[in-house]
Amino acid sequence: MTATLKDSYGRPVTNLRISLTSRCNLSCIYCHAEGEKNPDAEMSTQEIIDIMNVAAKFGIRSIKFTGGEPLIRPDILEIIRFVPKGIESSITTNGILLADMAADLKHAGLRRVNVSLDSLNPETYKRITGSDRVNEVLAGIDAALKVGLTPVKLNMVVLHGINDQEVDDFLAFVRGNHNLVLQLIELMHFNNCEYHGDLNGVECNLAARSKQILTRRMHHRKKYCLDGAEVEVVRPLHNTEFCAFCNRLRVTSDGKLKPCLLRTDNHVTIRGKKGADLEALFCEAVARREPFFK
Ligand code: 5AD
Repeated sequence: MTATLKDSYGRPVTNLRISLTSRCNLSCIYCHAEGEKNPDAEMSTQEIIDIMNVAAKFGIRSIKFTGGEPLIRPDILEIIRFVPKGIESSITTNGILLADMAADLKHAGLRRVNVSLDSLNPETYKRITGSDRVNEVLAGIDAALKVGLTPVKLNMVVLHGINDQEVDDFLAFVRGNHNLVLQLIELMHFNNCEYHGDLNGVECNLAARSKQILTRRMHHRKKYCLDGAEVEVVRPLHNTEFCAFCNRLRVTSDGKLKPCLLRTDNHVTIRGKKGADLEALFCEAVARREPFFK
């Protein structure tokens, strides 16, 4: 392994997010699909393994698999088995298929999961996702806790006028279980801005009720600890520190390195590349990293 790469702003790149597919078994009203709409061009298992090996060589320490919905890929367990030694892997899933797969994911070497869950109320869940399978998500969360894919982080995107009344219900849901962490996510309004609500009020309220407030390295996010509930607030568009502490590089499901979540004009295509060529492109993508908010 070579030393961890740094971009020209001195930011080390330690974390890789790989989108395994743009396909999803839900259709959330706010979804931006990370700007991807090319389900026919998914990377093969081998292409994903190749990029993970290059990442290991350049000092990446953690990989997060995302989508679309990563659990719908039939080779998901194989991909996880090929995560290079020394790299911690996690997955962001909507949890629909998690209950049946949790044990296998754990055995394949997955470290933990983030589960997207925007409502505990079946009707609201259906309104947001189009699905009435919220019970399967809850069973998935239980299964993940049981097999030790922990901490299980719950991603709740707070939607103005839809689920913003449920924050306290979610606090109650995670309270007392140290293996469950709540992440309240402010909607990024790519489209559907009608649901966008500023999380400033929610955050002030949490701060006032917290026994302890920690600052995470990742994006300098704050973590609030209140009566047995652990809560993080993710507000990228207001956080000038978001970029300064960003340590991520993304891979799109159709095989492009993406230096910044918020940009689509500086991708590096890695399709068909191997060995030294792939390594050079990895370095090129790191070199193209530039803070969106300076
Ligand atoms: N705004 C904020 N977060 C989003 N996610 C997806 N779309 C958006 C958006 N428009 C996040 C949610 C979800 C995960 C898969 O991606 O956290 O749980």
